[in-house]
Amino acid sequence: MKKYVLLLLLAAPVVACAQSSGSITITNDSKAIISKHIYGQFAEHLGRGIYDGFWVDKNLPVKKQNRIRLDLVAALKKIKIPNLRWPGGCFADEYHWRDGIGPSAQRPRMVNSNWGGVTEDNSFGTHEFLELAKLLDTEPYIAGNVGSGTVDEMSKWIEYLNSNSTSTVVQQRKANGHPEPYKVAFWGVGNENWGCGGNMTAEYYANEFKRYASFAKDYPGAKLKKIASGANSDDYNWTETIMKNVPNNMMWGVSMHYYTIPTGSWGKKGSATSFSEAEYFNTMVNCMRMDEIVSKHSAIMDKYDPQKKVGLVVDEWGIWTDPEPGTNPGFLYQQNSLRDALIAGTTLNIFNNHCDRVKMAELAQTINVLQALILTQKEKMILTPTYHIFDMYQVHQDAKYLNIKLNSPDYEVDGKKLPAVNASASQDATGKIHISLVNLDLHNTVTISTALKNINWSTVKGTILTSANITDVNTFEQPKKLQLQNFTGAKKDGDKLVVAIPSKSVVTLELN
Ligand code: AHR
Repeated sequence: MKKYVLLLLLAAPVVACAQSSGSITITNDSKAIISKHIYGQFAEHLGRGIYDGFWVDKNLPVKKQNRIRLDLVAALKKIKIPNLRWPGGCFADEYHWRDGIGPSAQRPRMVNSNWGGVTEDNSFGTHEFLELAKLLDTEPYIAGNVGSGTVDEMSKWIEYLNSNSTSTVVQQRKANGHPEPYKVAFWGVGNENWGCGGNMTAEYYANEFKRYASFAKDYPGAKLKKIASGANSDDYNWTETIMKNVPNNMMWGVSMHYYTIPTGSWGKKGSATSFSEAEYFNTMVNCMRMDEIVSKHSAIMDKYDPQKKVGLVVDEWGIWTDPEPGTNPGFLYQQNSLRDALIAGTTLNIFNNHCDRVKMAELAQTINVLQALILTQKEKMILTPTYHIFDMYQVHQDAKYLNIKLNSPDYEVDGKKLPAVNASASQDATGKIHISLVNLDLHNTVTISTALKNINWSTVKGTILTSANITDVNTFEQPKKLQLQNFTGAKKDGDKLVVAIPSKSVVTLELN
């Protein structure tokens, strides 16, 4: 017993008072803009994302427009979602848009073979999605079906949406209640066509892209931004083949998907809520691989598109854990802890710092699926820690990127090291500077001394997201355990900004 007390006495000061330090230099010499579209979201016909997520039973006692939940809409509007990708995912290459228009009762039913084998009644289709996008004040990003569709089917969908001609398909849209063209711009030509979207080779898909893209027409006031289905994480050959074979002016972007798997193994991914420090460390190593993966895809794109006209579109990212025990494994429902918030902050910092090439990204997947912003249970809803990060980081949307040089102390676990701190910075249209900082270290406060070159400022304020434990979550019983708080750990010291970033936290500062 005595030995135990002695050990505690020795350990306590190290844990409680531990500090380390680093430095940042921020310069105002970049012309790049952080596109707001980096802050996009993804909503697939998967689990409780659409059905029993956005689109609910007409008897559910919540405010609705049609069957769209308005409490979700209000929460998402607050964080300014710039775009919403739909209908998949793997579902996109099985989806036939004509099944989802016209009177709801007459729409055909299908089995959602990718996600739990449940019946898809097609009650949420094109018009309902675009009604949702309008309510959210967000740009729709539709992924067309290449894997099991036809060129004509995709071409007619675009005509149905965007044309104002006298053609039969346009008259059908008008008869279905939308006289004006929808003017959808973001258009995905398939999804994961190396896998669930048709198991194609990169060469085959590059040809298919050109064929589909040729008939994906622009209509007056509705120029399409065509996005090629992209690589599975570090499949650099896919990006190289697309960039080599598809003319730059034929595509607005090339996509890429990368998920953070805590254990690194798709078989047993790891729990969303119960994990050791070693597993947390491993998760963050996997999360930070995004930087290397984006850098290498960007370098390939630079060879074929030195003027950076084609965007890298990371249209699926986030943490993917084992599903919550007791839920349908095909529904991909997972809880969301402080760890998820640190992943969101870190990944968004990576995207901000690569904003010269990353023009768009979508977190997977908004409501009740994977790294969700919001979880629902009947009429209840909770905002996840990830939601709060998107709230904090909205200040970077369409802001001028500021170059950042960071010298971080290490976070060390079992002899392995990671930079404890990552960061990004921008200047908004009113001249305010925003700096977002993530401290991954579970034990140490990191004090960062920041020099801002050629930037005048006099006051600083901030917000923080943190909690006592890295495994802490918001629940339906305790929905506000994690929420944004005022941060007072930053001060002006001469011409330097000195910030003490608490362990396991995300901070955004505003300098005026
Ligand atoms: O987001 C879940 C799935 O992950 C998507 O349907 C697919 O594109 C990816 O493999």
